[in-house]
Amino acid sequence: MNNMLHEKVKFALIGCGAIAHKHVMAIKRFNNAEVIGAFDIDVKSAKLFEEKYQIPVFTNVDELIKKTNPDVLNILTPSGLHGENILELIHFNKHFIVEKPLALRLDQIDRILEECDKRGSKIFVVKQNRFNPPVQKLKEAIDRGRFGKLVLGTIRVRWSRDQLYYNQKSWRGTWAFDGGVLTNQASHHIDMLVWMMGDVESVMAKTATRLVKIEAEDLGIAILKFRNEALGVIEATTATRPKDLEGSISILGEKGSVEIGGFFMNELKSWNFSEPAEMDKDIWSKFSKVPGESAWNHSEFFKDVIISIHNGKKGLIDGLEGRKSVELINAIYESAETGKEVFLRFVPKECRLGVTSEGKR
Ligand SMILES: NC(=O)c1ccc[n+]([C@@H]2O[C@H](COP(=O)([O-])OP(=O)(O)OC[C@H]3O[C@@H](n4cnc5c(N)ncnc54)[C@H](O)[C@@H]3O)[C@@H](O)[C@H]2O)c1
Repeated sequence: MNNMLHEKVKFALIGCGAIAHKHVMAIKRFNNAEVIGAFDIDVKSAKLFEEKYQIPVFTNVDELIKKTNPDVLNILTPSGLHGENILELIHFNKHFIVEKPLALRLDQIDRILEECDKRGSKIFVVKQNRFNPPVQKLKEAIDRGRFGKLVLGTIRVRWSRDQLYYNQKSWRGTWAFDGGVLTNQASHHIDMLVWMMGDVESVMAKTATRLVKIEAEDLGIAILKFRNEALGVIEATTATRPKDLEGSISILGEKGSVEIGGFFMNELKSWNFSEPAEMDKDIWSKFSKVPGESAWNHSEFFKDVIISIHNGKKGLIDGLEGRKSVELINAIYESAETGKEVFLRFVPKECRLGVTSEGKR
């Protein structure tokens, strides 16, 4: 295992599309981190990226890794390729950052986790919204028991993505490479709900494709029962018109209620507790918003990664954490397809997510 602690953590990007730009921007803010190279199967994207950042781009992934010796491979390809990309690269014994979702299929994720454990490779899944200041404070309040008994956790994703958006990239909205609003846009909020409320016991769901022509859903509704007996609601759609409305989470408990809204759970809307605490004093002045710099929360994510690599501690969103939302999303799809309540832990039977129309996994 190449586990040496370089002064600078060296990142190599696999995929030079839209999200790669955020990774470069976020990593640039650190003196002890560097993007040392990149690879994309699309020569045009690769060339554009190289010209923009003067970061060497290789035409072959093996060459990238052998010539630059990175510590971390950032997997920034379409979601349905994450699993196979990681499994193909795992023999290099590097750490991985994976854009959300970790992969689409649970069997792939389980193989990845086993292989990474064997090799001592770390996995970090990008769920940058977990670092939003109001979100961190909400989690702290839950962990301190300030809500008492948890009652209800709700997420609402009311975003607008029209046909043009789906047509721009052939992988979007397909079962094999993306899934619908639940797997793509709402995967952040679903991760957040489970992080706040705890493990899910069962789910009942319905999905629909209302306003665009895509294989997967642009609307999904689910009712959850958590192991702690609280209930949850997921309402997620990209069929809000004519523009985005909100991306929010609310947590209700016996002794408090908190709502975080904005577009990506970035603005505190309500903070109410029947028993006051020290942390309430500066909640509105210091923690109610995400700072305005672009990719700020991606930088916070990278800070966590760099610390974890330097001192060997677990990152906030490791492979097991990344697995949870994918398991729940697969269970939601199975409930929507069968009309039945689905219980977790869960092994998908007929789920189409991550499978091509020819049935290739
Ligand atoms: N964290 C977030 O908020 C966030 C935001 C946007 C996208 N994402 C995630 O990032 C991932 C990529 O999304 P995007 O919008 O950048 O997509 P994109 O289509 O803009 O970019 C994907 C790139 O991967 C390249 N690629 C495809 N197969 C490859 C392979 N085998 N090896 C190397 N390169 C390959 C493509 O040529 C393309 O340039 C998705 O999983 C998406 O869910 C996360």
